[in-house]
Amino acid sequence: MIAQFLEETRRELVNGNAKKRHPFRYFTLATIQNGQPRQRTVVLRKTLADFSILFYTDKRTQKIEDIALSPACSALFYHPKKLLQIRVVGTAELITDKDQIAGYWHTVQEASRKDYTTINTPGTPIKNPDAVSYSAEENYFCPVKIIPTTIEYLQLKRPNHLRVLFSRKDSDWSGEFLVP
Ligand SMILES: Cc1cc2nc3c(=O)[nH]c(=O)nc-3n(C[C@H](O)[C@H](O)[C@H](O)COP(=O)(O)O)c2cc1C
Repeated sequence: MIAQFLEETRRELVNGNAKKRHPFRYFTLATIQNGQPRQRTVVLRKTLADFSILFYTDKRTQKIEDIALSPACSALFYHPKKLLQIRVVGTAELITDKDQIAGYWHTVQEASRKDYTTINTPGTPIKNPDAVSYSAEENYFCPVKIIPTTIEYLQLKRPNHLRVLFSRKDSDWSGEFLVP
């Protein structure tokens, strides 16, 4: 019975990328910066068979520095209609294989590619919003994979809320119900 919640989680995470306007398309990613949490919204780009999730970023961003110093991270998804929250805790890993990077780069829309090509590092102060220049030669595109160690499912509903903690051991997942 408990396995059905893991399957539902998989379905929602896959749909987050596959279905337009699915609320899991965006998630909150938390990393650790100097011992403090730092969160931001990113786009879910892919969910793999082992529940790893992918997002794209610029390799010069703060989150990449955070991950290099401490790969522990958390991803939070929320589905407002289903009152469903999924909390993923795991390890972030930069994709470094050139062919894989090229494959993911291919999936980025032409108009969005410039987001990864600013001359100055993201976060650099500028005088006005138009004062951004882009490189025609270079990009800083960096796909990142989050490999989960736990996934927590929480659905608010009547008469009883439903909270399940799934933990990964090698390639197997075990689940236990928690007091919501
Ligand atoms: C709707 C939305 C989607 C976003 N998607 C991404 C994304 O996929 N990748 C990314 O690096 N930043 C994305 N951002 C910007 C981040 O939230 C963040 O501002 C930026 O990555 C810098 O974060 P950092 O300095 O903590 O690394 C998105 C922002 C919004 C509002």
